[in-house]
Amino acid sequence: MKEQIEKVKQQFQSEIAQVSSMDALEAMRVAYLGKKGSVTELLKGLKSLSVDEKKEMGRYINELKAHVSEHIAERGAQLKTELEEARLKADKRYDISLPCQETMGTLHPITIVQRELEAIFSSMGFAVEDFSEVVTEYNNFEAVNIPKHHPARDMQDTYYLDNGQVLKTHTSAAQNAILRKYGAPCRAIFPGRCFRNEALDASHETTFFQMEGMMVDENISISNLIYFMETMLSEVFKKEITVRLRPGFFPFVEPGFELDIQCPFCGGKGCATCKHGGWIELCPCGMIHPRVLEMGGVDPERYTGFAFGLGLTRLAMMQFGIHDIRMLNSGNLKALDQFVMM
Ligand code: DAH
Repeated sequence: MKEQIEKVKQQFQSEIAQVSSMDALEAMRVAYLGKKGSVTELLKGLKSLSVDEKKEMGRYINELKAHVSEHIAERGAQLKTELEEARLKADKRYDISLPCQETMGTLHPITIVQRELEAIFSSMGFAVEDFSEVVTEYNNFEAVNIPKHHPARDMQDTYYLDNGQVLKTHTSAAQNAILRKYGAPCRAIFPGRCFRNEALDASHETTFFQMEGMMVDENISISNLIYFMETMLSEVFKKEITVRLRPGFFPFVEPGFELDIQCPFCGGKGCATCKHGGWIELCPCGMIHPRVLEMGGVDPERYTGFAFGLGLTRLAMMQFGIHDIRMLNSGNLKALDQFVMM
C-alpha cells in the first residue's frame, strides 16, 4: 500500500506542475479528492488492512490528502495571478510595463487655502455655502445692483449660455440666494469658481476662485467688517495683520472699499511681494447696498451688513509664493503636489 500511496503522490506532483487552466485544476481536484478520486480510493482500501496497518497507512494517506489540497490551493492562487497578467498583457489599452505613481495625492493649493478659511470662518459662526457655477443673469448681475447696460458689466464679461444663463463672474452671484435662504440675521461664506473673459498672463486667468462673505444683522457697521477681516487675516498669516480701507466702487456695496493689508512678508518695508509699496490690495468689501438687501427680502431699514469678495486664487498664490496663475489650472502634478498646509 505504501508504494501505491507514493505512486499517487508522484503522479500528483508531475501533473500539478503542468496544469495551466482553472478548469484543468478543478478536474485534478476531482481526480484526486473527489468521490472516486485516487486519494479517496486509497482511503477506501484501508478497510482490508489490519488495525496496525490501518493506523500507519491511514496517517500516510491523510498526509497525502493534506499535501494535495494545499498544492491545489497554492497552484490556484498562482494561476489566477498568471492569467490576470496575461489578460492585461494582451489588452493593448494598458501598458502595464509603465512605472506607476507610488506617491500619495496631495490637495490643490487653492483647496488648502479654502479649507483653512472655511475652518476660520466656521469657528466665528459663519455657515459655509456652496453655489452653482452656472447662474442666472439676474443672480450674477441684477440682484447685486448691476442692471443691464451698467458699465460694470463690461469688466465682467463671461460665457453666456444658449439658455440665457451665465458662468458666474464672481461669488457675489450667490448673495441673493444666501439672503433668501437665511434672511436676517445671517453670517455665511461661499467659496467658488468664477469665470471671466480675460487676456491670459501671469496674473490673469479665465477661471479663478473667490470667497465671498456676508454678515447681516441689526447695527452691523464698518467696525464689524474691519474686526472680522483683521481676525481672519491674522489667522491666515499666523501673525497680527494691519489693514487699511481705501474707497472703492462696487455697485452692490455702499460705501465700498478696497481692503489692503500691510505686507506680512516684509512688515511694510517693501519687498517683491508688495511690489515695494508696503501694502497689498487683498479684498474688496463694503456695506451691503440697501437695494441688494431689499432684493434678497431683507428689510434695509432694520438691518445692515457687510460683504467681502476675497480673491482665493490670489491669496493662495501669495501664501505659497506662486508667481504664475496659469500653473494652478495646469494639472501639472510636478508643480502642484509640492504644497502642504502651513
Ligand atoms: N464681486 C467683486 C468682484 O469680483 C468683488 C467684491 C467687491 C465682492 C466688494 C464683495 C464686495 O462682496 O463687497 O470684482
